[in-house]
Amino acid sequence: MRLRTATVRNFRNIAHAELSFSPQFTCLLGPNGQGKTNAIEALYLIAALRPLRNVLRKALIRSNEAEANIEVQVEHDRTGLVHDLGLTLRGGQRTLRKDDKVCDAAQFLGHAVAIAFTPDDLQLAKGGPDGRRRFLDRALLNVRPAYLKVALRYQKAVKDRNRLLLEDAADSTLDAFDIVVAQAGASMTSARAAYAVELTPTVASRFIEIADPAPQLDIRYASHLLDVAPDRAEEALAESFIAELRRRRDRDRRRKTTSVGPHLDDLVITFDGAPARDRASQGQHRALVLALKLAEIEHLATALGEPPVLFLDDMSSELDEDRSRQLFDAVRRLEGQVILTSTESVDVIRSRLGSGADVHTYRVASGTLTEDQLREST
Ligand SMILES: Nc1ncnc2c1ncn2[C@@H]1O[C@H](COP(=O)(O)OP(=O)(O)O)[C@@H](O)[C@H]1O
Ligand SMILES: [Mg+2]
Repeated sequence: MRLRTATVRNFRNIAHAELSFSPQFTCLLGPNGQGKTNAIEALYLIAALRPLRNVLRKALIRSNEAEANIEVQVEHDRTGLVHDLGLTLRGGQRTLRKDDKVCDAAQFLGHAVAIAFTPDDLQLAKGGPDGRRRFLDRALLNVRPAYLKVALRYQKAVKDRNRLLLEDAADSTLDAFDIVVAQAGASMTSARAAYAVELTPTVASRFIEIADPAPQLDIRYASHLLDVAPDRAEEALAESFIAELRRRRDRDRRRKTTSVGPHLDDLVITFDGAPARDRASQGQHRALVLALKLAEIEHLATALGEPPVLFLDDMSSELDEDRSRQLFDAVRRLEGQVILTSTESVDVIRSRLGSGADVHTYRVASGTLTEDQLREST
């Protein structure tokens, strides 16, 4: 799938921007603080319906404006079908439109599937487990749209159980809620564990290509309390989950929070058997993150039957020269649409993208995007 055009109004520092995308590379160039990431954030929001950066919706609306508006025209590679997607933010409210008709998230998602690779992702291997859980959730939402329902059901179930713990509800009431938490939690856990298994061989082979020397890499979805082996039946997992919730109930009552479940799980990554976060050098961390992201992209491209739209935010300034080259080589091989931001010059960017590439460039200054008229470099 490809984005054809976009109109952005009153989003962050962008008052009004019109973009026309290359089927290959569209580059948003300019110094820091001008609105490059904001532009990517607007486009990513319409693709994923989740903010790129964790902020309140209100923060996305331009200061002193009532609403923000994003319109994107997308085209499917295989069918050639074109859709107009629209998203309006007003206060805390979001309205979605497809082909000028108001619709819900389920009808909207899937038309502009995208993956973003941002400097925040560089914390994926080193940072806390919440970043890795978010990685799994974002990836799964793209591969299996039905995962959204499972994740929301679980989120609500845990919130309800926590409220009951706070209210010191009767055991009989908690019994019923434990079952809801465990069933939704088991579906979510199974989906994540299965995804980790599917992703691992590709991560491992990309890692060997990128890291030199490459230690033995192992990736496993893990819970500190439950056996979440991917071949375990979901019903068996739900049963042991219920038992664990019962066992921990008194303690959960005291702490007023649910202390077991996928909201606390992790994607455990080891190098030669030791946790990567303790063992890996800076270079190995970067290689690992790059391998994870490339594997996510390739896995999704295979699942969709076409490459997703890829957003690369400021990656060349965050990665060293070798890793940048490896990233761009991999991205070129994928032959999908790429929208990237950079503080580098047009010439440096064009040389990264290779001669003959179709490139649109925009200069970003104080929230204004201006297209470079010179489109061909060769
Ligand atoms: N809601 C908002 N309204 C107006 N300006 C905003 C809003 N949110 C962020 N900004 C401004 O956007 C600018 C940063 O844009 P950003 O896209 O992160 O820059 P960069 O080009 O470095 O990626 C800052 O000047 C910030 O004040
Ligand atoms: Mg930026």
